[in-house]
Amino acid sequence: MRQVKTLGLLGTGVIGGGWAARALHFGIDVIAADVKPEMEGWIRGAIANAEPALARLTDAPLPPKGTLTFTTDLHAMAAQVDFIQENIPEQIELKQRVLAGVSRHAPQDVVIASSTSGIMPSDLQRDMVAPERLIVGHPFNPVYLLPLVELVGGKQTSEASLEAAKRFYTYIGMHPLRVRKEIPGHLTDRLQEALWREILHLVNDGVATTGELDESIIYGPGLRWAGMGTNQIYHLAGGEAGMRHMLAQFGPCLKWPWTKLEAPELTEQLIDRMVDGTSAQAAGRSIRELERLRDDYLVAIQQVLRQFDIGAGATLRALEARLYNDAKARHAPAAEDPRQPLKLVATPVRPDWIDYNGHMTDYRYLQVVGDAVDALFRRVGIDERYRAQGRAPYTVETHVTYEAELRQADSLYVTTQVLAVDPKRLQLFHRLYRADGTLAATAEQMFVHVDAASGKASPMAPEALAKLEAIRAAHAGLPRPPEAGRAIGMRR
Ligand SMILES: NC(=O)c1ccc[n+]([C@@H]2O[C@H](COP(=O)([O-])OP(=O)(O)OC[C@H]3O[C@@H](n4cnc5c(N)ncnc54)[C@H](O)[C@@H]3O)[C@@H](O)[C@H]2O)c1
Repeated sequence: MRQVKTLGLLGTGVIGGGWAARALHFGIDVIAADVKPEMEGWIRGAIANAEPALARLTDAPLPPKGTLTFTTDLHAMAAQVDFIQENIPEQIELKQRVLAGVSRHAPQDVVIASSTSGIMPSDLQRDMVAPERLIVGHPFNPVYLLPLVELVGGKQTSEASLEAAKRFYTYIGMHPLRVRKEIPGHLTDRLQEALWREILHLVNDGVATTGELDESIIYGPGLRWAGMGTNQIYHLAGGEAGMRHMLAQFGPCLKWPWTKLEAPELTEQLIDRMVDGTSAQAAGRSIRELERLRDDYLVAIQQVLRQFDIGAGATLRALEARLYNDAKARHAPAAEDPRQPLKLVATPVRPDWIDYNGHMTDYRYLQVVGDAVDALFRRVGIDERYRAQGRAPYTVETHVTYEAELRQADSLYVTTQVLAVDPKRLQLFHRLYRADGTLAATAEQMFVHVDAASGKASPMAPEALAKLEAIRAAHAGLPRPPEAGRAIGMRR
């Protein structure tokens, strides 16, 4: 199957828009096709809305953004793309007809994926040309922030198509979950619907409001679910004996009528309660406002999970490792003058970095310097694999001077000069500049290379040392920064 450079979208509503935002952000061109010409304006708006949150997801270097084109000619789109993601309404006959038509125009090595929430792939591939390339790739809203995509094959689907889809989805930062057997509703919607059915019953029976039921999740189980699923959580709930004790203790309750399997009738009264309840919860906030709030916390949660290398945070880490690797290949060192300080980080000042004076708050200067150090370490091979061997440079001293203010949305970049290096020590000097070249801060740092098991200084790997030494030698002709070696209050 092909390497995906251009993604074709069939249907550009909520889900098509989400796919477009994610793919473009990670450098994939998109040809979006919809029967309604007015959807062009809609999808461009959806992409613009997604961008602020997506831009904050990672500081890893991104490739240039992809470009978007829009067409109402589905077949012309199919002839030009490397992968097609179908996102038209959830109606089986419509999907079958459109997929069959598109399959006659897409080259046979183009995977065709459906975003269907519950239709089985064997039904979708029925009338297609080359049905072995049809898979279900079921995403979750917002597609541009949630990494999960359920991957399901039908009776005629080839392993090669599933593998190609998995590669593509991983490339754009997703977590493909292979569903072993096709079943209506795949996996996640089966679970979500079971919960929703109970909600509908509890509202219908007048037991609780929509707001109370949401509280019952967000202050408790919801917090756990981001890092561990129900099964792992219940294993912990069983104490030392784990799941076995949990089943012995709560197993009998499964026979009690705690939950109901059949959904209640959607009467007018129930619909009113659900709608009135959720609009009371919105408290006057528009869908767009609530979406922004949701996007902001989804980004923040993934960044926290990254620290623990768990769930969606592990996916984010893997994506970043790939982005750093690709950036290395893109920016061949020949492009920079090795005699000048390295320019390793460039970023806008984010809104959450601003303090009550409207300036970038002091510890964020250190964070940006830390990002530069991370980038330098990666460049010389001190990365996750290196640290997994129980060794790493530890910061033992940092001296920051603040020279100029940085305000929200200012662009800044950091340069790094290697002042000294030996097997156990590394001395760096960083300068933070505003995009216009104004010096905003300097930071001098000393690192000691440590063996984590003994907690003692130890020599770094010879390859890393050789690379750092080469950078130091190239920087030897630079003047020593006047701030280097300064103590607090000492005049320059
Ligand atoms: N909304 C969700 O949360 C969600 C989540 C995961 C998967 N899905 C699935 O994604 C698919 C799309 O859902 P959505 O919420 O984006 O729907 P939507 O109604 O927002 O968008 C559907 C789009 O398809 C277009 N369309 C209709 N007929 C078409 C045709 N013949 N050819 C091309 N375009 C056509 C419509 O103009 C519209 O823009 C469904 O299969 C749904 O089950 C939805």
